[in-house]
Amino acid sequence: MSDLVIAIDGPAGSGKSTVARAVAHALGWSFLDTGAMYRAVTCEALARGVDVADEAAMATVAAHVTLTTLPRVTVDGRDVEDEIRTEPVNLAVSIVAANPLVRQSMVTRQREIAAAQPVGTVVEGRDITTVVFPEATLKVFLTASLDERAARRGEEGVDSVARRDRADSTREASPLRRADDALVLDTTGRNVKDVVEEIVQCLKTRQSN
Ligand code: CDP
Repeated sequence: MSDLVIAIDGPAGSGKSTVARAVAHALGWSFLDTGAMYRAVTCEALARGVDVADEAAMATVAAHVTLTTLPRVTVDGRDVEDEIRTEPVNLAVSIVAANPLVRQSMVTRQREIAAAQPVGTVVEGRDITTVVFPEATLKVFLTASLDERAARRGEEGVDSVARRDRADSTREASPLRRADDALVLDTTGRNVKDVVEEIVQCLKTRQSN
């Protein structure tokens, strides 16, 4: 069991998932995509016909579902790997993620998952550096221009990406913000390998100090 954590936050399309996965691979650590957890809960609510704006009903869904993110995203044993990236989920997920009761239940799970990993965990999302692991071994905030982020998101489109960013940054419960001591990396025009190397190097420097 390990308490080594690299926490990565940033807006949609900033490269969090790709970079976090590659950093985990480079270090031999585990990887946790917390956005996939909020998306999976959203899928389940939509499938059950639960009103995603009903905070109490959503809290019940979040508290009782069984979730996995690796090797596939599943909710109560149902594979939702593809469904979590569809338009209805893009539209509803920010509402679900703004619910403090849903967040409480996801954050508890995220801490338990990381604590159970054998070496370390690279965790990515919106509140990882500020709320879930404020004492992480290394904190990273990834950014990129809106145009580049929308291009990476492809079908979702610039309006939807901008709308989610606004919702995620202005909500009351754990809004997306830069932790004061996070390494801030603008990934606009940079390749993944380069960004991964910088993060791994920074971890090594921190660990040797
Ligand atoms: O991949 P992308 O950056 O587009 O989004 P994601 O990481 O899959 O997260 C989807 C949504 O979940 C975000 O727009 C946030 O509303 C929410 N989220 C959150 O509130 N807190 C997290 N730790 C992770 C995601």
